Amino acid sequence: MAALSNTRWIGAIVIACVICPVLCSNILILPGAPFGNFYITISRFGELLAMRGHNVTVLINDLYYQRFAGLIKEQRTFMNFEDYESGFNEFPDAYNRVTKSAHIALTISEILRIFDVLADETEAFIQDSNSIKRLNAANFDLILANAFNPGFALIVDTLRVPFVSVSTMRAFPMIDDLLHGLTSNPAYVPAVKTGYSDEMTFPQRLGNTFAYLASAAMFEFLLLKPFKSIQQRHNIRPELSYRSLCRNSELILFCSDFAFDYPRPMMPHAIYIGSLTARTPDPLSQ
Ligand SMILES: *[C@@H]1O[C@H](CO)[C@@H](O)[C@H](O)[C@H]1NC(C)=O
Repeated sequence: MAALSNTRWIGAIVIACVICPVLCSNILILPGAPFGNFYITISRFGELLAMRGHNVTVLINDLYYQRFAGLIKEQRTFMNFEDYESGFNEFPDAYNRVTKSAHIALTISEILRIFDVLADETEAFIQDSNSIKRLNAANFDLILANAFNPGFALIVDTLRVPFVSVSTMRAFPMIDDLLHGLTSNPAYVPAVKTGYSDEMTFPQRLGNTFAYLASAAMFEFLLLKPFKSIQQRHNIRPELSYRSLCRNSELILFCSDFAFDYPRPMMPHAIYIGSLTARTPDPLSQ
């Protein structure tokens, strides 16, 4: 009798050791806009999460299919896709301009036009009650959002799901500071496009400070403007500033590394994850 209960105990212990708890979450990915290599980098997170057993859904439109058809076909075997209407279908010239060549410097009016289109498509998406109902029914546990398209904050707030922001670039002084509540110091962190290094003379520091103020003003009063008006029109937490909506993220991940950046202060919720999204290289064909 004693021997029998002993073996039962041993059996129970063995089973308890073999079975480990599985935590499968529903995760939604907002890849931002179908420009450059955003999709490749952001959807890599989906691949890594799906490999760990999570149920991953990616929000895309037909422009993604045009550019990344092969990759998406492969990913369809382990991730879900949800479609929305692209705002660029009505402005193909604006879209062509951003995607045709990475070497063309866009004018300020073209940049504003692109952000206007991104805002319009975000508004069309949050007004589409069928899509929103379907996404709400999926009960997402987490959203992973590309911070390049500031419209992510409106979608996240409509779905009311905790989120993690992802930037495919390094942490830009001022722009990322405003968007994610980071801090940088114009005395030694050079602003974008100034061409300065971390060692600046006094006049250069002065110029750098003006560059900080100019980029903050452009971001706050021009780029975010169409998104702010959607926030007010649709009553999405109108008491908060748009920047506060964006800053509610649990974490902000930068696909870069300290080695590629200037020395700068970092907040504990901002993490450099460079190399994580890199794929295993294929051997060269002979
Ligand atoms: C996976 O996510 C989709 C939403 O894209 C949802 O419809 C489906 O029910 C989810 N599956 C599980 C097992 O939770």
